Amino acid sequence: MTLCVKVPFKDAERVKRLLERKGVLDPLHRYDKDERHIYFPITRKLEEPGLIYAKRVLPAAKKKNTLREQLRSQLTPEELAHVKSSYDIVGSIAIIEVDKALAQRERIIANAVLAMNKHVSTVLKKEGGHEGELRLQKMRCLAGKDTRETIVKENGVTLLVDVERVYYSVRSATERKRIAQLVKKGERVLVMFSGAAPYPCVIAKLAAPAHVVGIELNKRGHELGIENVRRNKLDTVTLMHGDVRELVPLLAQQGETFDRIVMPLPHTGHDFLDEALSVARTGTVVHLYDFEHEDEFEKGAEKARAGAARNGKRAEILGIVACGQHSPRVYRICVDFKVL
Ligand SMILES: C[S@@+](CC[C@H](N)C(=O)[O-])C[C@H]1O[C@@H](n2cnc3c(N)ncnc32)[C@H](O)[C@@H]1O
Repeated sequence: MTLCVKVPFKDAERVKRLLERKGVLDPLHRYDKDERHIYFPITRKLEEPGLIYAKRVLPAAKKKNTLREQLRSQLTPEELAHVKSSYDIVGSIAIIEVDKALAQRERIIANAVLAMNKHVSTVLKKEGGHEGELRLQKMRCLAGKDTRETIVKENGVTLLVDVERVYYSVRSATERKRIAQLVKKGERVLVMFSGAAPYPCVIAKLAAPAHVVGIELNKRGHELGIENVRRNKLDTVTLMHGDVRELVPLLAQQGETFDRIVMPLPHTGHDFLDEALSVARTGTVVHLYDFEHEDEFEKGAEKARAGAARNGKRAEILGIVACGQHSPRVYRICVDFKVL
């Protein structure tokens, strides 16, 4: 049985518009009729006076393929043109962006996303970009269960993530696999800026390193990382909580060196090359992430060369890989280089 609003035919259009405006139309079901009434499926009761509620078996909505198609009956053509049809799904959470012009329609859009994805139980809206040292993004729940935590499966590991309190991007999963596939048996790997430990876990799972060390400043990120290492039974991973600027010099003092150093902090990662190179040896491979315009990838290589020169070393560029899009014509790139 589905909760419905029972409306005489003459009021149907007015009430339908009200339900749409409030974002309570249940997109999983279709409306139904008897001789004098129409029954609109809803997700919750409203405090509006004069509405009559009923429970009724309603036909399931036909599955629509795209978000715009799903919304066709609920938004005007002008509104549909503003709908951003792509969104991320992180475990059971869908993360959407809503154009300012559709602020009044955001719950309708969120309910449509919920209806289209049977494994999604939460729809969050991005409330800005990644900000601050911890690269966090504010989110607001528009539909479903109000949570930020979910379990993600990627590259053979299961990760507990918190999409608001700890940076995690599903879009980097392919890049993590690429790095893991480069790791040779017995390597010692340092992952600076390890977050909830997706890189350390994927590397330890897919490759056979001797040891993977991850360092993360965000306390909650470190805690989730510890949980993820435990959950995937990865005994070659050690995670450290703190600032790379303080912890890497301590590793250097202890005479630690690494065969491979991963630096997934695109905006400012190059500022940490002095620390990275203090635990590199001749032949260490560094993966330095950066954001660059499509015509200027070489600038990323320049940053690597400058960092190496500053430390009395040379950087042999092994390759530059585009591994995500940041904004129109600006890409997330990875500069792979060997320390000489
Ligand atoms: C872009 S995120 C990448 C997180 C993770 N590696 C991933 O791929 O999901 C960068 C991470 O670096 C952390 N971070 C920023 N500055 C740091 C510092 N000085 N020392 C350690 N971690 C830092 C942030 O908290 C954030 O979790």
